Amino acid sequence: MEKKRITIAFDGFSSSGKSTMAKTLAKRIGYAYIDTGAMYRAVTLYCLENGLFEGTTLNEEELRRRMGDIAITFAVDADGRSVTMLNGRNVEQEIRQMPVSSKVSIVAAVPFVRHALVRQQQQMGAGGGIVMDGRDIGTVVFPHAEMKVYVNASAETRARRRYDELRAKGDTTVTYEDVYKNVCERDYIDTHREETPLRRADDAVELDNSNMSIDEQNRWLIDLYNSIVEKQ
Ligand code: DC
Repeated sequence: MEKKRITIAFDGFSSSGKSTMAKTLAKRIGYAYIDTGAMYRAVTLYCLENGLFEGTTLNEEELRRRMGDIAITFAVDADGRSVTMLNGRNVEQEIRQMPVSSKVSIVAAVPFVRHALVRQQQQMGAGGGIVMDGRDIGTVVFPHAEMKVYVNASAETRARRRYDELRAKGDTTVTYEDVYKNVCERDYIDTHREETPLRRADDAVELDNSNMSIDEQNRWLIDLYNSIVEKQ
């Protein structure tokens, strides 16, 4: 019998490793993968490039007027990797750098931005067979997802991972202290904002991967996926 193509939601703090896990699982089971953080990052890049920030103050009224001009899509590059496109331009590199990272929580806290992106995410996942990762996937975007994973790891572990990642990508200016501070600030804003703060859905399975190897995490996930799909 054909296996049911379910909806899989990954939520958790920044740099918890959930994107890598979600991507690996999607590839293994032949599902589409959507990184919703990339969508908030792309809107943030648009704001930075179009002068909508003055320091840390966002011109929300101007952004509201321009929301219809911001098209975020995903494409596959020459190496077969999924990349984020902003109005047809590949912005995958820029959205991962510190100028965007340090402002994205501000943009992600704006209700009309969240409503627009959530609607788009729901359309992208409407047919099932999707792995989506973010902060509100199991609670708001797909509250009826068959599989929900809430990934956790200590702030130190996450900062170390993001720091190593940035260094590996050739960023020689960033310090571990900067990254740690950014991780803590974003944790605070993500869990304290008024509009859908990060929280674990009641029916999500929690995974603390501070002390787990990548292989262990992947095995844990595929076991969970198999046990859920068997029951469908
Ligand atoms: O996963 P990430 O670090 O790329 O996410 C970037 C920011 O976007 C982060 O501050 C949290 C926010 N975000 C959100 O509020 N809701 C989502 N579904 C995904 C990300």
